[in-house]
Amino acid sequence: MTAGLVVLGATGDLTARYVLPGLARVEPLVDGGLRLVGVANDDLDDDGFRALVREKVAGHADGRVDPAVGALVDRAVWVHGDVTDPATLSAAIAACEVSDADPLVVYLALPHVLFLPVVHALAEVDLPSGVRVVVEKPFGEDLAGAVELNAALARLLPEDQIFRVDHFLAKQTVLNLLGLRFANRILEPLWTSTDVASVDIVFDETVDAQSRASYYDRSGALRDMVQNHLLQLLTYVAMEPPTSMAPADLASRKADVLKAVRTPDRESVARWTRRGRYTAGEVDGRAVDGYTDAPGVDADRGIETYAEVTLHVDTWRWSGVPFRLRTGKALSADRREIVVRFRDVPLHVFDGPAPVRNELRLQLDPDRMSLDLNVNGIDDPFKLETVTLDTELARQDPTPYGQLLLAVIDGDTRLSARATEAEEGWRIVEPILAAWADGAVPLEEYPAGSDGPS
Ligand code: BG6
Repeated sequence: MTAGLVVLGATGDLTARYVLPGLARVEPLVDGGLRLVGVANDDLDDDGFRALVREKVAGHADGRVDPAVGALVDRAVWVHGDVTDPATLSAAIAACEVSDADPLVVYLALPHVLFLPVVHALAEVDLPSGVRVVVEKPFGEDLAGAVELNAALARLLPEDQIFRVDHFLAKQTVLNLLGLRFANRILEPLWTSTDVASVDIVFDETVDAQSRASYYDRSGALRDMVQNHLLQLLTYVAMEPPTSMAPADLASRKADVLKAVRTPDRESVARWTRRGRYTAGEVDGRAVDGYTDAPGVDADRGIETYAEVTLHVDTWRWSGVPFRLRTGKALSADRREIVVRFRDVPLHVFDGPAPVRNELRLQLDPDRMSLDLNVNGIDDPFKLETVTLDTELARQDPTPYGQLLLAVIDGDTRLSARATEAEEGWRIVEPILAAWADGAVPLEEYPAGSDGPS
């Protein structure tokens, strides 16, 4: 497939950790004539950029660069310049050398403060009609910022050429939620407040924030993970059945969920949220400094590395069911899962302890699904035992970022958030940030390597 990919911020952390390794495994792109153009203000040339691409690509492909990837690397071009300068952007687009009929993607792998200036600069460039613009997260810093950015993007391009990518939507287990819910008879009838007691959406990480502190200290767990990734997971768990898998159908079902999430007031923030920050400790035998000791961190900013938020989706289907979203850095274990906890049976008729609640767990990375069921005991068949049905769901290849890039080049918006979703995300999260800043909830401390605030 011939296509052009202009990466703005090509020497940045996001490009190195996600975009380039993701690209390496997308065969239709690698084998075809993808032309990669890197742009940044760094002192680099084509050879320097190619060395960087080769390293990141090889890092993902077990040190092996196959000939197709080698050709992609050899075609890569470097454009030096200021990403907010229309002349730099024009030069980068020209360097792609793709025809008007081929897809051309401009990827803003940049700090979010640059999104708006870059969109303004793009407005002064003669863009090919089918150009697609990818915007990373956080999409603005607050609701007003997201509205302003959406308006600038809407003046630039039609909505179906704007990709507010969220790589969690490309995680296999997340996509599997759609199949599990909407291609089987057995789950969907139970998927309501009548049978579901609560839902947990958990993304605990052992990784700390030390190496990205300069970004993280302007963000924190709520902006970095909850406003986008975890709310997107919530939409897949809670959406009504779409009439098709068409992008517009899915997008409107997702938006309906977010619109139904109750706006937290100060009292509910105090009752239903927690925030924490890790102190020095040990994670997997590795000593980790406290968050505030990381270079670039201003302790007075009070940035949280752990967030827990219980939300309520005010629909007939979900009324009364708490959705608990939780995420944190430098925790004891990588626990990434969606847990649907079903209600107790109406009457306990067996001897001994009551049956455990049925729990459906969908684990992300590695992708597994398990279901706890109560069955008759082996020694005493009138007492209960719990068994767990467990299955591997998928081994993901290409990576979520690879899937994202492929979707963008294909013009498929399903792995991106629509304008409304981005704004609704801030409508939900902003009052929490405000109440936290106002001291409604204490910033608790937890040692790195623990299970979070006690
Ligand atoms: C990123 C967040 O978007 O997602 C990181 O900024 C987080 O803080 C990461 O660690 C998790 O995603 P993955 O795919 O690396 O598990």
